[in-house]
Amino acid sequence: MKSVSFALAGLLCAGLFNTAAAAGKTGAEVGQSCVMCHGENGLSSMPGTPSLAGQSEIYLSSQLKQFRDGKRHNEVMNVIAKPLSDAEIDAVSAWFAQFEVVLKKR
Ligand code: HEC
Repeated sequence: MKSVSFALAGLLCAGLFNTAAAAGKTGAEVGQSCVMCHGENGLSSMPGTPSLAGQSEIYLSSQLKQFRDGKRHNEVMNVIAKPLSDAEIDAVSAWFAQFEVVLKKR
C-alpha cells in the first residue's frame, strides 16, 4: 500500500511540476536555449543543424516528442528534449513556426 501512495505522490508532483513549468515558460523563453545551435530566431548557419524558423508547428512538435521519447535518435537532441513537457514543446514549436522564411537566390 505504501509504495502505491508513494507512486501516486510522485505522479502528483510530476503533474504539478509540469503545470508550473508550462505556466512559467513561454515559447520564446524555451527557445533561448535552442538558438545557440539553431541560430537566431531558428535560422541556422551551422552545418549539420537544421533551421527551425518557419517549419510547421506540427512537424516541430512531433519531432521534439520523438527525440524526447527516444523514437528519433540524436545524441544532442535526445538530451535536450528529455526535460521538456508537452506544453513546453507545443509553445516552443509555435514560437519557431511563427517566423516567415523568405527564399532568394544567392
Ligand atoms: C547543442 C546544439 C543544439 C541545441 C542547443 C538544440 N539543438 Fe535541436 N538539433 C541539433 C542538431 C545537431 C539537430 C539535427 C539532429 C539530426 O541530425 O537528427 C537538431 C534537430 C532538431 C530538430 C529536428 C528538425 C528537423 O528539421 O527535423 C528540432 C525540432 C530541434 N532540433 C529542436 C530544438 C529545440 C526546440 C531546442 C531548444 C529547446 C534545440 N533543438 C536545441 C542541435 C541542437
